[in-house]
Amino acid sequence: MFVRQMLFSDVDRVYEIVCRSLEEGYLREVFLYFIGGWPSGQLVAVNEFGQVVGFLSGARLDQDKASVPLFAVDPAYRKKGVGTRLMEEFSLQVLMDGMQYIQLEVKDTNAGAIAFYKKAGFYPVAYLDGFYNGGGNAVRMVRSAQGNS
Ligand SMILES: CC(C)(COP(=O)(O)OP(=O)(O)OC[C@H]1O[C@@H](n2cnc3c(N)ncnc32)[C@H](O)[C@@H]1OP(=O)(O)O)[C@@H](O)C(=O)NCCC(=O)NCCS
Repeated sequence: MFVRQMLFSDVDRVYEIVCRSLEEGYLREVFLYFIGGWPSGQLVAVNEFGQVVGFLSGARLDQDKASVPLFAVDPAYRKKGVGTRLMEEFSLQVLMDGMQYIQLEVKDTNAGAIAFYKKAGFYPVAYLDGFYNGGGNAVRMVRSAQGNS
């Protein structure tokens, strides 16, 4: 498995993973917007057969901070270290592009993702009531892009 930058030709497969993974509805076009805005912040994980099995879409929040608006691994490939590899590569990219921190929001009911982020060194900094349009609260989590410190 390796991680590379997301291409426009990956978007159909990435969107398929989104539909299988995330409760909220997203438009496929959102990835065209992300690729256009920060190409090096969009990553995919590819298996030995050349199939995309996970992705991470980043966004620049400000000069010092990046966020992770969308991130998912195909259900059949979870708990095999794919998400960890994506987050590690993303952290390097954040540093290379001059930012120091990663901040993200996760649904307070998404225990699996919260456990993943905690293991990756993120810590909660705020609880956001009614953060999601369709209802639901978020936990805001932050980490240095340099790792668990
Ligand atoms: C969150 C997500 C991307 C993690 O990807 P992954 O490839 O399964 O993660 P990893 O295999 O690298 O997991 C690393 C560690 O995180 C923790 N972890 C991951 N998924 C977990 C789960 N469902 N429950 C508890 N801990 C979990 C474990 O400690 C795991 O280490 P272990 O396998 O040695 O126990 C994946 O679960 C996913 O796509 N979820 C649905 C979409 C989603 O919720 N995205 C985030 C929106 S904010």
